[in-house]
Amino acid sequence: MNKNLAFIFDLDGVIVDTAKYHYLAWRNLANSLGFDFTVEQNEQLKGVSRIKSLEILLNIGKVELSEEKKQTLLVEKNREYLEYVNTMTPDEILPGVNQLLNFLDYNNIKYVLGSASKNAPLILEKVELNNRFVAIVDGNDVSKAKPNPEVFLKGAEKLNMKPENCVVVEDAIAGVQAANTANMVSIGIGDANVLSEADYNFKDMTEITSDFLRNLIN
Ligand code: BG6
Ligand code: MG
Repeated sequence: MNKNLAFIFDLDGVIVDTAKYHYLAWRNLANSLGFDFTVEQNEQLKGVSRIKSLEILLNIGKVELSEEKKQTLLVEKNREYLEYVNTMTPDEILPGVNQLLNFLDYNNIKYVLGSASKNAPLILEKVELNNRFVAIVDGNDVSKAKPNPEVFLKGAEKLNMKPENCVVVEDAIAGVQAANTANMVSIGIGDANVLSEADYNFKDMTEITSDFLRNLIN
């Protein structure tokens, strides 16, 4: 086992592209409330908890609702989202992910999941990656959402690693900030201008080369 390094992976946008399913479900909800919701606006919801996402959406539509109504809408949104999730197969694992996990396995580097999603266990099961992680820390385990570092600090505990020896792979600004606050190494996946706070940036997971990983290990 490599005692100097371990990885913590975000799920949505890093392992699988579930943002498109979240978008469809949120857009439907927005439409039912009488306003439109664009792909560009959907960027604001990446990495954000379910309840915070609803608040951002309602703010966009300038709609005010009772707490009770919000709870009903959250249940409805998740029900529709799960319809998409239930169709998922291992084909939806993003390019480069399996290669990276294989590299980590080969080099005895442990990894856990650190996701805001309460649906993370189901999604990992659908794409048949559930048995590969040492542990899954998800939206059910934390009380403070990213950019709070709670999810990653819990991940480090599961790995039995000091935060400074953990490498976080994230596609959301809130996640990169959470990793930085936790004193972990942050890798941003996506637009480097958006994720400029990350220690390292890659356009997608295929860009993380074994040379880069070897340098990180040593
Ligand atoms: C994050 C996604 O991983 O999980 C967000 O980037 C999502 O878009 C959040 O809102 C919570 O997910 P879920 O599955 O619990 O609604
Ligand atoms: Mg993400």
